[in-house]
Amino acid sequence: MDHFTYKNRVLHCDDVPVPALAEKYGTPLYVYSKKTLEHHLKQIQAAFKAVDPLVCYSIKTNGNLHIARLMVEGGAGCDVTSGGELYRALKAGCSPSKIVFAGAGKTNAEIRAALEQGVFLFNVESEGELSAIAEIAKSMGKVANVALRVNPDLPPKTHAKTDTSVKGVKFGLDIDTVLEFAEKVLKNPHVKVVGLHMHLGSPILSVEPYRQGIVKGQVLIDKLRAQGHRITIWNMGGGFGIHYKKNEALPASAFAEVIVPGIQEAKCKLVLEPGRFIVGNAGLLVSRVIYTKDSGGKHFVIQDAAMNDLIRPTLYDSFHRIWPVAGFDTPEDYQVENPGTVKSDVVGPVCESGDFLAKDRYLPAVGRGDLLATFSAGAYGMAMASNYNGRPRAAEVLVDGANHHLIRRRETYEDLIRPEVDF
Ligand code: LLP
Repeated sequence: MDHFTYKNRVLHCDDVPVPALAEKYGTPLYVYSKKTLEHHLKQIQAAFKAVDPLVCYSIKTNGNLHIARLMVEGGAGCDVTSGGELYRALKAGCSPSKIVFAGAGKTNAEIRAALEQGVFLFNVESEGELSAIAEIAKSMGKVANVALRVNPDLPPKTHAKTDTSVKGVKFGLDIDTVLEFAEKVLKNPHVKVVGLHMHLGSPILSVEPYRQGIVKGQVLIDKLRAQGHRITIWNMGGGFGIHYKKNEALPASAFAEVIVPGIQEAKCKLVLEPGRFIVGNAGLLVSRVIYTKDSGGKHFVIQDAAMNDLIRPTLYDSFHRIWPVAGFDTPEDYQVENPGTVKSDVVGPVCESGDFLAKDRYLPAVGRGDLLATFSAGAYGMAMASNYNGRPRAAEVLVDGANHHLIRRRETYEDLIRPEVDF
């Protein structure tokens, strides 16, 4: 469910017509719906209510301070994966006691900063990392609480570049050797293993991986407890998928049905790290058509958003719905040839053949100046944007009912060169 609807053939975010936003803030423009963000967070909180989870918004998904603050105000903690994200989470007002720190390559400086702040939990991914945390904690006279991030070795479930729980990826501790490792940790007075962590991949469109993860996790928790570890936390990560095409995703309650009983049986505190589920369909990318052209048997719509604004289509072959902002009824299904449409490649101005938002997509005939909306762009859109080809990053605007305000200004050419020193 989201708050982007066509009213009289004009796309609105809540009560605000999107063309008015494009006019005021320019394009390319990320538009977010506050109500949708809040609604999605509440959906997760409600679905897992029986176990009173700590929902840590995965800040990598969309780190804008205004969005992170909304999550914090809604009761969420934050999942961070770098010193920069820790900084962001704290700036957004997140209490360190609700911050979980993930990532396979935490540096000494990042570990020290997290210990100084007193984060809730480190999700530990290697023996080397655990030694570093222990050493730094010792030097600071502290004891670090850690969860062992295990790679549960499940069958492939999503795009190879975002599947984190198959054998052979860099993430987590090997499930076959994690217990030997955990045995050694017992002797270390500066780290306390209090939890188990698994993030299965993203986006996941079935409950099956969670079901399998729960089964494997239960066995591990029993064994860790038998070793003498006092396991009280079970972090199931993020990964809940969303509708990119049409009703392909599951409600939060479906995941809860599988996860909650396992958590209750294990008598653990549940931590979740959702990102995409909350912000993915709460954001769209608005762009303006610069030219159209026909070449080599193809019809190209060249518009002002590019792979530097939204890299998902070219990086993961991801499907994002695209439709003109005004003048046309929305189709039931974006993937089929709808009447009056033209098979088009929606491309940007960047100098790469991989610069596209959609390929072979049936779109109404649009021309110079028309606005397009690329949907489901709230997650891993702006967060993965770059300045490639000398392109200032887009502006971001947050809509609430009939109100809207800029939450990130468009970058300027000056911004592009600012960090380059001594020139
Ligand atoms: N927790 C951990 C440890 C993660 O690595 C991630 C995402 C999440 C939570 C949040 O997952 P979510 O709930 O958003 O699925 N750029 C890719 C996705 C990369 C996901 C990275 N890790 C994309 O655009 O599809």
